[in-house]
Amino acid sequence: MQPTTFDLFADNEPLQQARTEQIGEQSWVLRGFALPRVDQLLTALEPLLDAAPLRHMVTPGGFSMSVGTSSCGTLGWITDRSGYRYSSVDPLSGLPWPGMPTVFADLAHEAAEHAGFAGFQADSCLINQYVPGAKMSLHQDKDEKAYAAPIVSLSLGLPAMFLFGGFERSDKSRRTPLLHGDMVVWGGVDRLRFHGVLPIKPGHHARLGERRINLTFRVAGDPAKV
Ligand code: SIN
Ligand code: FE2
Repeated sequence: MQPTTFDLFADNEPLQQARTEQIGEQSWVLRGFALPRVDQLLTALEPLLDAAPLRHMVTPGGFSMSVGTSSCGTLGWITDRSGYRYSSVDPLSGLPWPGMPTVFADLAHEAAEHAGFAGFQADSCLINQYVPGAKMSLHQDKDEKAYAAPIVSLSLGLPAMFLFGGFERSDKSRRTPLLHGDMVVWGGVDRLRFHGVLPIKPGHHARLGERRINLTFRVAGDPAKV
């Protein structure tokens, strides 16, 4: 059962430490970090997905991704037959991506700070929706202009098995389950580690039904301009 009263900022070091798992030199899983803000996050998400609906993007190799994807913020990550890149407009509408809600930006900033990365200001939030069977193959996040800022990820809904690997695709990866409200932050020496998600198991989440939503916050553009 999820604790309902987890106060992140209580003077309770042992509790915080117990819920913070180190998965790399500068990589952390923050268990339940987002739980106090799930309502606000989901309320903010709804209009975003109305404005920029989830879609199954195509990889340069011609495969349709199993996750449904959208973005908010000044830059959104896209892929099509011509490659992976960031775009300031949603190719579906030709309009700028919806702005990043304050509740998203604040949460990402606080999670990054908690993991030792002060001053994180995301300019991009990738929204991935997984239904049972959907997965994310091992990859590096390397389409950003610079790698000084960490990656901050939030999991909502159905559980996932997260793979956190090394610097070569073939390196052994660590498996860590990610549950509703968990956040992962990786940066610094770990910034370019391969990572992915095993196929989501069938299930029903009380809040989100038969799906998992992952929000990935990044500094994708010129950090000086964020
Ligand atoms: C990603 O790496 O883009 C997604 C990771 C996740 O869904 O947890
Ligand atoms: Fe990624």
